[in-house]
Amino acid sequence: MREAYIGEDYFVIKALENGVTIIGLTRGSDTKFHHTEKLDRGEVMVVQFTEHTSAMKIRGSAEIIHRYGTTNSEGLRR
Ligand code: TRP
Repeated sequence: MREAYIGEDYFVIKALENGVTIIGLTRGSDTKFHHTEKLDRGEVMVVQFTEHTSAMKIRGSAEIIHRYGTTNSEGLRR
């Protein structure tokens, strides 16, 4: 891994329901799914973008805490 990426911001994803999915999307000219993580309610994942991952898709109800504040994704259930 290139050293330049070690200083990327971390962010925190907290699942607010079971089965929240975090999908890592590849960095570069094509955008593909390359990694999937499932979180159950209350589980937290601390993540960082890397040379392999430049975007993430979060499916389900979750709290995403990042340097700009907090964003909530919504699940299908209300
Ligand atoms: N492979 C794309 C890239 O590295 C992934 C990506 C990052 C993306 N930001 C995006 C895709 C915004 C669509 C929109 O640039």
